[in-house]
Amino acid sequence: MVDPDAARVREMFTRIARRYDVMNTVMTGGRHHAWRRLAAEAVVAAPPGPVLDLATGTGDLALAVRAMRSASTVVGADFSEGMLRQARAKLARRRETRVRLLAADALTLPFRDRTFAAVTSAFLVRNLTELARGLAEMRRVAMPGGLVVTLDITRPRVPGWDRVFGLYFHRIVPLMGALVAGDRAAYTYLPESVERFASPPGMAEAMRRAGLRDVRYRRFGRQTETHAMLIDVGHFELLVTLILIGAGVAAGFVIVDRRLRRLQRMTVAVGRLVIQETRRWGRV
Ligand SMILES: C[S@@+](CC[C@H](N)C(=O)[O-])C[C@H]1O[C@@H](n2cnc3c(N)ncnc32)[C@H](O)[C@@H]1O
Repeated sequence: MVDPDAARVREMFTRIARRYDVMNTVMTGGRHHAWRRLAAEAVVAAPPGPVLDLATGTGDLALAVRAMRSASTVVGADFSEGMLRQARAKLARRRETRVRLLAADALTLPFRDRTFAAVTSAFLVRNLTELARGLAEMRRVAMPGGLVVTLDITRPRVPGWDRVFGLYFHRIVPLMGALVAGDRAAYTYLPESVERFASPPGMAEAMRRAGLRDVRYRRFGRQTETHAMLIDVGHFELLVTLILIGAGVAAGFVIVDRRLRRLQRMTVAVGRLVIQETRRWGRV
């Protein structure tokens, strides 16, 4: 039987699939690629063999992993056909043939035990209706000595900064979602899912309970060697993101303002010309 919550999540991602990439860029000031690159870099430490990118969405992490491991085949799996369609088009545009895509549910993966050298996911675990089951599936399909890497955002619990982030995430992001993706509901769900999500230590504990050994979590920019890793985008990086967005918006206003002023000057000049010509005709 289909879980109604999971069906809602799938339907939501299918709805926003066409605008998903552009919305990520707008929302993060373009930083989202750097976050995925960090997860892809972690995969270099995994043993040789194929890599599974779970909840691959439009395929960006699968492509980043491929760029890091040219000898590995990467399989991108997602349960939203809409997202996979965007991923397929992106792979075709880049002539990328060593990333395979398939429709699959992270809670019941269609792979044998111990198939993959690494299992990655970005911004998935928050969306799982059964976190423990999802993590157990990641462990099942990873080889012994393999690596499970999961990247996500957690709410900063730093007084003051937490309020600024809350304001941005709960007020501005839904507005951006309505304007850019035409879907306010999906981008109201996003901050709510971050709010509900475990803290990095809580998530690391859930990974340990799923049987993953040597679990670490790492904030953006710090190095660790481990078999399973939760990468948290981190407070500092979120601050950088907000500053970039603020600077982008300010630059936008300056450009618009300049254009408006130029338009105003042109309108005045055209107006003067029309008056001069009309007077001349009047005299003739
Ligand atoms: C926020 S998007 C992340 C996409 C991509 N990993 C990225 O880095 O942009 C979450 C993705 O998880 C997928 N997803 C959520 N629950 C899933 C599940 N149980 N099985 C497979 N995919 C799932 C959604 O369809 C969506 O594409």
